[in-house]
Parts: sequence; structure tokens; C-alpha cells
Amino acid sequence: MRIGIVGAGAVGSAIAAVLARAGIEATIVNRRGVGSLAVLLAGLAPHLTAGTREDVLGADIVFVAVPWMRLGDAIGGVSDWGGRIVVDCNNALEGPSFKPVELNGLTSSEAFAQMVPGARVVKAFNHMLPHLLAGDPRAEGGRRAMFMAGDEPAAKVEIGKIIDAIGGYRIDLGGLREGGRLMQFPGGPLPALNFVLFD
Ligand SMILES: NC(=O)c1ccc[n+]([C@@H]2O[C@H](COP(=O)([O-])OP(=O)(O)OC[C@H]3O[C@@H](n4cnc5c(N)ncnc54)[C@H](OP(=O)(O)O)[C@@H]3O)[C@@H](O)[C@H]2O)c1
Repeated sequence: MRIGIVGAGAVGSAIAAVLARAGIEATIVNRRGVGSLAVLLAGLAPHLTAGTREDVLGADIVFVAVPWMRLGDAIGGVSDWGGRIVVDCNNALEGPSFKPVELNGLTSSEAFAQMVPGARVVKAFNHMLPHLLAGDPRAEGGRRAMFMAGDEPAAKVEIGKIIDAIGGYRIDLGGLREGGRLMQFPGGPLPALNFVLFD
């Protein structure tokens, strides 16, 4: 499975770090270009490489972590994602004011899914603060809970394998409607909580 990451800010770079620590290769793209990624790439070599927008959007699993209002620029224009898995790590906020985007009754991941036609969307790698997301999921001695939601069970199996590989404890919350609602910020009860399973 080829993995792409769109966005190299707090969340995108945290995902890159936790994947690299587990030896999982990924290709990343941001808005400003490869020059701005030098420090991140040097820290996570050889697992993380920079790619073009086309490279990254063409991956089998594409993590998307960009400001909501930038999603159109970042991932728009693909007419058919062909069943590839797109992981929605985003919050539907208008900007630094944290004003919620009007979603007309949809969960944010249902709205996100409308932007990636033909993709199998999983909401994941989203509820945790970035410094925890970047860290070792076993740091407290147990395994950190990592929630996911999605309407395609086979896509959640693949994301679950990644969560297992990085040492997290996967919890499937159901579909984008019911599970997405629990995970989304603002509104859901789970964002920013740090649950750890002690066996
Ligand atoms: N920070 C949190 O605590 C947190 C937690 C959960 C979820 N989220 C959500 O996760 C998403 C990302 O948040 P963040 O905190 O990581 O934001 P951030 O630190 O501001 O980083 C945003 C990233 O998006 C990139 N980007 C913007 N436009 C792009 C485009 N057209 N193509 C490719 N990349 C583009 C930026 O590129 P440059 O590097 O070139 O500027 C930057 O790397 C948001 O939807 C946010 O609401 C955030």
C-alpha cells in the first residue's frame, strides 16, 4: 500500500512521524513546496519523502490534514478516486476564529466524503492533540486508543492495520454518521481526550 499525506502542519507531520517510527513509508505534500519540508524530511528519512500533488493524491491511502477552507485547493479536481482510501483528519472550521462551517445536517466527514468522489473515506488520526498523535502510542505503558469511523468495513481494516503497526489500540465507532459525530470537533465528545488501554 502506497501512503500519501496531504498537509505537513501539526497534524500531517505528526502522522508522518508516527508512521516513520514504525518503519512505514509515506510521501508528503504541502502548499509551499519541498523547500519548506527540509527539516521534517531530514528528521524522518528514509521513510518520509516529498512528492508532487499528483504522487500523493495517487496513493492507495491518502491522509488529508489541511485547514478545512483549503481542502478544495489541496484535494479537489480528482473526478474519481477509484475506491482508494482517504483518511479525513480534518475539522470543519472556517479558520483561526474556530467558527464552525455550516454542514447542513451532515457530519464533517460526510461533507468531506462529498469532496472525494469514489473514495472510501475513513475518519481517523483526528481526535488526539498533535503532540500525542506524534508520540509513541505506548508511552503511558498501555496502548493509546485511536478511533476510526467509516462506511466501508474493508477500508477500516486497512487503517486498523496501520494503527496496530504503530502500537495504537484501534476502536471502530461505526459509520461516518454516528462514529464521525462522536469524533468531530466541534461538537463530538471525544476530541482532545487521551484514552489508554491497560491490558
Ligand atoms: N492542530 C490540532 O490540534 C488539530 C487536531 C485535530 C485535527 N486538526 C485538523 O487537522 C487539519 C490540519 O490542522 P493542522 O493543525 O495540522 O494545521 P496547520 O498546522 O496549519 O497545517 C496545515 C497544513 O496544510 C497545508 N496546506 C494548506 N493548503 C494546502 C494545499 N492547497 N495543498 C497541500 N497542503 C496544503 C499547509 O501547507 P504549508 O506547510 O505549506 O503551510 C500545512 O502544512 C485541520 O483541518 C485541523 O482542523 C487539527
